[in-house]
Amino acid sequence: MIIAVDGPAASGKGTLAEGLACHYGLPHLDTGLLYRAVGLAVADLEDQPGFEEAAIAAARALDASHLQDIEELTNARTGVLASKVAVIGPVRQALFDYQRAFATQPGGALLDGRDIGTRICPDADVKLFIQADSKARMERRARQLEKRGQVVDRYALFHQIEERDARDMANPHGGFYKADDAHLLDTTLLDIEAALRAAIAIVDRTMALKAGH
Ligand code: CDP
Repeated sequence: MIIAVDGPAASGKGTLAEGLACHYGLPHLDTGLLYRAVGLAVADLEDQPGFEEAAIAAARALDASHLQDIEELTNARTGVLASKVAVIGPVRQALFDYQRAFATQPGGALLDGRDIGTRICPDADVKLFIQADSKARMERRARQLEKRGQVVDRYALFHQIEERDARDMANPHGGFYKADDAHLLDTTLLDIEAALRAAIAIVDRTMALKAGH
C-alpha cells in the first residue's frame, strides 16, 4: 500500500504521517527533509550567483547520510532555504527519482510532502491532504521549536510561514495542490490523537472500498 500525505507548512502532516506509518507498519519518508538537506548544503550561497548550480549538484549527490542532523534540518531558517531550492526544476527532478524509488519499494511506503499525491505518487492507494488555518499552523510550529529550547518570535514565524506558503504556491514546478482524489482533513480543531484517528478511518474506508467491501 502506498499512502501519500500532503499539506502546507506546519499543517500537522509530519506528525500524522509518522503515526500512520507506525500504525500500518510502512516505511516513511518525510520528503521536506530532502529539500531541507539541499537548502542546508548551499546555505552559504543563498541569494548569490552559483546558488542554483550548487543546489542542483547537492540534490544529485543527496543520500541518507545528509538526513541525519534533524535539529539543523528542521529549523525555521532551513525551511526558508528549502523553499528556495524547491523552485529549481533540476533539483525537483533529482529528488523525484529518490522519492519514486522509496515509494515503489516492495511492501509499500508512506511519503509526506507537497506534491506526493499529484506528482510523485499519482498512483497512491490513499491520498490525504492535510490543512489547518495559518494561525493554528504558526502556533504548532512555535510550540515544536520551543520544545527544543529555541526562542520563538511568533510574529516573525507567522510571516516566515506565509512567505514560504506564497513561494510554494507560486512554484512553477509545483503540483502543490490537493489531488482530485485526495481526502481533505482539516486539523485546525483536532489534537494529534483525534487527527490520527480521523486519518486511519479514511485509510481503512478507502482500502475497504478498493477491496470491494
Ligand atoms: O514541515 P514543513 O511543512 O514546515 O516543511 P517541509 O515539509 O519540511 O518542507 C520544506 C519546504 O520544502 C517547503 O516549504 C517546500 O518549499 C519544499 N518541499 C517541496 O517543494 N516538495 C515537497 N514534497 C516537500 C517540501
